[in-house]
Amino acid sequence: MGAMSGPPLLSDACGRRGPALPSGVVNPRAGRHAWVCPRAVLAVAAALAAGGCAWDTPMSTVIARSDLNRSIVSLYAIITWATLVIGLLVFTILAIVLARFRARPGDATLPRQIRGHTALEISWTIAPALVLLIIAIPTIQVIFRSQTAAAPKNALEVTVRGWQWWWEFRYPTLDVVTANELHLPVGRPVLFSLEGPDVIHSFWVPQLGGKRDVVPGRLNRIALTPEQPGEYWGQCAEFCGASHANMQLRVVVEPPDAFDLWVAAQKAPPAEPAGDAAAGKDVFARNACVGCHTIRGISAGVLGPDLTHFGGRALFGAGLWPTSVDNVAAWVKDPPALKPGSKMPNLHLSDADVRAVATYLVGLK
Ligand code: CUA
Repeated sequence: MGAMSGPPLLSDACGRRGPALPSGVVNPRAGRHAWVCPRAVLAVAAALAAGGCAWDTPMSTVIARSDLNRSIVSLYAIITWATLVIGLLVFTILAIVLARFRARPGDATLPRQIRGHTALEISWTIAPALVLLIIAIPTIQVIFRSQTAAAPKNALEVTVRGWQWWWEFRYPTLDVVTANELHLPVGRPVLFSLEGPDVIHSFWVPQLGGKRDVVPGRLNRIALTPEQPGEYWGQCAEFCGASHANMQLRVVVEPPDAFDLWVAAQKAPPAEPAGDAAAGKDVFARNACVGCHTIRGISAGVLGPDLTHFGGRALFGAGLWPTSVDNVAAWVKDPPALKPGSKMPNLHLSDADVRAVATYLVGLK
């Protein structure tokens, strides 16, 4: 400032400064603040627009596609309305108080000084407690209803196991095992049993229901009924290590007959490979792959996803890449390079072996 003379530069709420006025000229706006700047208005408008556009997205929790999520959205509604009424009440009282008891010109008297007001203090302690109680009762009801082991008789049972960093889905009554891609029939209740073999994960498919932790040594449950066919996205929602963000899943909710077809395909033996794929089967069978992965009839590993029908899944790597020979080859070549912390090591296979095994796996529809 040392080199400048005259009145100080004006700056608005965005911190921008106007041109210096010639010395001696009185600035008519001096002392006033610019409360609104176009940049701030634009930022707020953009945030609102983004919020509006983000309403119906795969990870939106306010788009209910199951009975559980409808219950959760109605809890949101209770909280939103309660907050709105309280907000209106508080701001109305504040406005009245500000208008009625403001300092008036020339009035130098000190307002009446109050030290403590028992009735007021008791009431503003009890009122929030009541509000919390009103919110807590339906919330606890939804938690207990969705956590129940007493699911309806015809409920489909699915065991969900969270692994670093992928999802295993077992259908104990159907004798089907898959990974990262869960199929469910529309309109039929599902009882998920959540188990964890390593660290705490959290199973979360926003449009189907709330997140629930998958805790080692503890059995958690979710009971829900998917109500609309479609493809739903899920994501591990509890920090579980280097590739926590790379732990996604897909849920395919389909009509019962399509689901039955899928189950039949899962129960079928793996496709018999030919040509390049047959060479890939040999590569798989004589390398460390068999220690971790199951391909029925070839291996019985349990530390990695069951690959018996790997090629039938649209995505692999826990929802990270479309299943194609090129993508799978890149993965097999060096898994930790593509997924930080991957438990699947680089087996240092030759390029030809990598290509063959990828061709074989993608052919396992
Ligand atoms: Cu699994 Cu985060």
